[in-house]
Amino acid sequence: MSGRHGLPGRRERASPSLKGARARAVRAIVNGRPTTTGATQVALAAVARSAGGALDELLCCHFDKLAEELRAACGGDGSGSATRLNNYLKKSAGLPPSDRVRRAAIASLAIAMSARPPARPLPISIEALYPRTFQVLAEYLANSAVYDPDCYAKDARFVAGVTVPAGAQLVDLQFADGWGSDLRSLLRHVAMIGRLSLAGDARGAAMLCRPESWNNWLEIHTDQRNLEDFNEGGWDDCYRRIADILRGRSELAGLWGASWFYDPQLLEISPRLAYLQERPLERGAVMVRLRGGAIHAQRAAQTSPTRTSLIAAGRYRPICYAMFWPRRELLAWASGPPSS
Ligand SMILES: CC(C)(COP(=O)(O)OP(=O)(O)OC[C@H]1O[C@@H](n2cnc3c(N)ncnc32)[C@H](O)[C@@H]1OP(=O)(O)O)[C@@H](O)C(=O)NCCC(=O)NCCS
Repeated sequence: MSGRHGLPGRRERASPSLKGARARAVRAIVNGRPTTTGATQVALAAVARSAGGALDELLCCHFDKLAEELRAACGGDGSGSATRLNNYLKKSAGLPPSDRVRRAAIASLAIAMSARPPARPLPISIEALYPRTFQVLAEYLANSAVYDPDCYAKDARFVAGVTVPAGAQLVDLQFADGWGSDLRSLLRHVAMIGRLSLAGDARGAAMLCRPESWNNWLEIHTDQRNLEDFNEGGWDDCYRRIADILRGRSELAGLWGASWFYDPQLLEISPRLAYLQERPLERGAVMVRLRGGAIHAQRAAQTSPTRTSLIAAGRYRPICYAMFWPRRELLAWASGPPSS
């Protein structure tokens, strides 16, 4: 019986010839990329089994097809892959996507993914980060009180190979797979150029009008579970790893991200975070003012008593800015001396 979306249904499940998740974990270490330690694989296997071995076996058998579908669904606000996985769990696995089931699904998919080479080779500097990334994921899945929806969305993209670790940030390769031809992406790009022109930033607008700027951009995200490298040196290392990705993929336009921490108000309010906007700007990036909103205020206030009280007093309204760092400028910086 075929499940929806062309995936085999539950009854079609292959017999569990691999003797469970632990055997697959060991096989992954032997045959797969050296991406995880044995302890991490065992921890992931324990979470994978926690929703019953049937789900684990099902996801392992159907990993390649499901990962392809998660990649295809990854556009929009970044939650598309998670929504697609929820649909799979409901319709093809016959399970409600409860907190426990979602954890088990991500753990199973992470084990399956770790046993496979990436669709396109990744720089060594990126590959080297996988053991730590899997470790953080395993610890989070095993120990967190609730499975935060934003973390789940990131994890669904990660196990599908959309997102790769780069240290201080996660990087979405999604646009590298053809999203640049999407009408919505093109319209968004035109809107960015319009905003720069209206703000009088002719240099920035001209930069985003270059022919290569209409190609696909790598997108960065902060992962709250892994902030060890969230400091100036860690970000520079991250940019250099991103440069490694760009060198291997000439079709990419550069790097972009959007956050409240690119807001120039931060230079006075939180000068400790000034490096986040100053370093890219010094090195050829452009910032585009987007908008304020509850989510940006909530994130800006989350860790900082100073920003919290300024927001409460009505003296600071966090604004989200987009940062675009074109490949030409980013690679020129990355090939310069280490401290520049
Ligand atoms: C983005 C983020 C990781 C940056 O964290 P950070 O580097 O610690 O910097 P913050 O400005 O947030 O620091 C928060 C508090 O930690 C303390 N702190 C941070 N760095 C410090 C340092 N070097 N020395 C002493 N205290 C420090 C301060 O008390 C500071 O509060 P204050 O602003 O009232 O002084 C953090 O703000 C965060 O997790 N935000 C919520 C999620 C988010 O916004 N993610 C990005 C989405 S686009």
